[in-house]
Amino acid sequence: MNVIHTIEELRAIILENKQKGKRIGLVPTMGFLHEGHLTLATQARAENDVVMMSIFVNPTQFGPNEDFASYPRDLQRDTKLAASVGVDVIFAPSVEEMYPHDGGIYIRAGQQATVLCGASRPSHFDGVLQVVAKLFNLFQPDFAYFGQKDAQQVAIIQTMVRDYNFPVELRIIPVIREEDGLAKSSRNVYLSATERAQAPAIQQALQLAKQELMASGNVEQSIQLAKRIVEANLEGKTDYLTFLSYPDLTEVTAETQQVLLAAAVYIGKTRLIDNVIFSLKGEPAYV
Ligand code: PAF
Repeated sequence: MNVIHTIEELRAIILENKQKGKRIGLVPTMGFLHEGHLTLATQARAENDVVMMSIFVNPTQFGPNEDFASYPRDLQRDTKLAASVGVDVIFAPSVEEMYPHDGGIYIRAGQQATVLCGASRPSHFDGVLQVVAKLFNLFQPDFAYFGQKDAQQVAIIQTMVRDYNFPVELRIIPVIREEDGLAKSSRNVYLSATERAQAPAIQQALQLAKQELMASGNVEQSIQLAKRIVEANLEGKTDYLTFLSYPDLTEVTAETQQVLLAAAVYIGKTRLIDNVIFSLKGEPAYV
């Protein structure tokens, strides 16, 4: 496995593989890999000639009071884990390598970024699109792999790919969970033992709210039920817990095909997100 840090090295590797007609799969990450990332890489391994992973904690997607400085980082550990699932190349650039110019050209996410995480993290998705657009241009991947856990991120990147004609196919992988239902996340390491024991209540609340919506068709009643479960089981605060049409992220109506039930909850200082996507016809659905 090759670990590289510069765009020059990356361009040489991409050129060589493109000239040989190799199919390139990209797994973009911010590192501190967990089973969710490894599942993306495993799928990429099965579908591509070359599997590349970016590991870059992107400062432009963190707000001023967020955890950019303390976000967990361990390249040595990540390298071993990535090698174990057959990643060929890790690109781990510095911030200066990725953003040498304060150039002033930005991509702005649209309406989909005004709700859910976008409501409390106003420039977050602009930062995500900035780095993902750069990564797509640098790697020129045939396939790029993202987790459904970040459902809003997936929907917004899909819109960018569509609207800006990026020649890449997105592969979306279902949420990977711990045995007790907690969605895997690099931020789970922040939880104390007590917080960790409480955290599965988020997924339990989402599942009950989904059942309630399927049974009653009453959005508000289902949301209130889920919020009560979260409040009763967690020492924390709900940032949002809501139903939206997916992937457009507008209000659920009688025409809605796929519903996103999404939550962001603070447990202590740690903000965790989770979601369920389903069809109102009763079939589980993934984009
Ligand atoms: O999902 C993530 O880890 C990040 O938002 C991404 C897509 C790697 C961009 O920094």
